[in-house]
Amino acid sequence: MDYAIAVIPGDGIGPDIIDETLQVLDRIGELYGHSFKYTELLAGGAALDAEGVPLPARTLAVCKESDAVLLGAVGGPQWDNLAGSRRPEQALLGLRSGLGLFANLRPAILFEELKDACPLRSDIIGEGLDIYVVRELTGGIYFGDRGSEELASGTRAWDTMAYSVPEVERIARLSFSIAMKRSKKVTSVDKANILESSRLWRATVEKVARDFPEVELNHMYVDNAAMQLVRNPHQFDVIVTSNMFGDILSDEASMITGSIGMLPSASLGEGSFGMYEPVHGSAPDIAGQDKANPIAAILSAAMMLRYTFELSAEADAVEAAVAAVLKGPSRTGDIIREGKGEKLTGTREMGKLIRDALVSA
Ligand code: IPM
Ligand code: MG
Repeated sequence: MDYAIAVIPGDGIGPDIIDETLQVLDRIGELYGHSFKYTELLAGGAALDAEGVPLPARTLAVCKESDAVLLGAVGGPQWDNLAGSRRPEQALLGLRSGLGLFANLRPAILFEELKDACPLRSDIIGEGLDIYVVRELTGGIYFGDRGSEELASGTRAWDTMAYSVPEVERIARLSFSIAMKRSKKVTSVDKANILESSRLWRATVEKVARDFPEVELNHMYVDNAAMQLVRNPHQFDVIVTSNMFGDILSDEASMITGSIGMLPSASLGEGSFGMYEPVHGSAPDIAGQDKANPIAAILSAAMMLRYTFELSAEADAVEAAVAAVLKGPSRTGDIIREGKGEKLTGTREMGKLIRDALVSA
């Protein structure tokens, strides 16, 4: 089969990790007889420099015509002082809303071999960890009315958080469907003791839950959820939450897995189309130095194989190759531990090890 992938390397370490990821996909293509066609596109700071806008119209148009989008990372200090609407991060928001990607899936899995990189005590972490964060991605405070005004007392600025019933229904439905394939447990995270939009969120999630009688649902306030994640992460399986709470909690969950450099994500809409990107940012301090961990991007490509292309054997092969490499001593800087005989490994070497492991996977 032929698959058309829009590729947005972006800024900072984006190009470093995407380069390795495409080579992994090419190897999968050779091994399983697929052809992945890439169209490289500009977004974020790279697009600002080249075309003066964070998300050129052509980028969005080509993404829409593709089967899937693979994105590295956007942003960097040189663009930090631009006005809000011209920041590189606007490219991400424009892609998410322009492509209708309302659901962001962020699995947080602690690999057995990385247990020592987890900052929690071993008695808390126990036998490992497997949490699935489902973040609403095209609503809430990220897309609500915002602005600023000049008052005699100084400037005043605001952002608003709003949710509608259909927006909550679709993300809740997806979360329950995912839970049905896992341990049938959903924790919905909100701030219903304060926020009106959270009260609507909670009531709507409860209504959807009636269609999934086998799934155990509980609700948690976001402050408590942040605390419970480090107190007893094992109580969670699927977490469904709003755009901003999901942004925060997924970073927290990622740290429990040892490094944010390990976490992939998928952003999905109604159909099979999806955008795949690592959870981590552009890490400009190590860009272009062969230091970044390419695993999150490579695991994002595995999610693409699984969710958009429905190539589960190929997705399994990529994930198995990553796990196999982690059984060896090679580690990028973010996951290396002192005094364990591990070997500091660059981005390119890590990519090659994973590709080589694919042969036997
Ligand atoms: C993420 C990032 C983005 C977000 C930023 C870069 C706009 O933190 O994908 O989690 O806040 O959604
Ligand atoms: Mg984030």
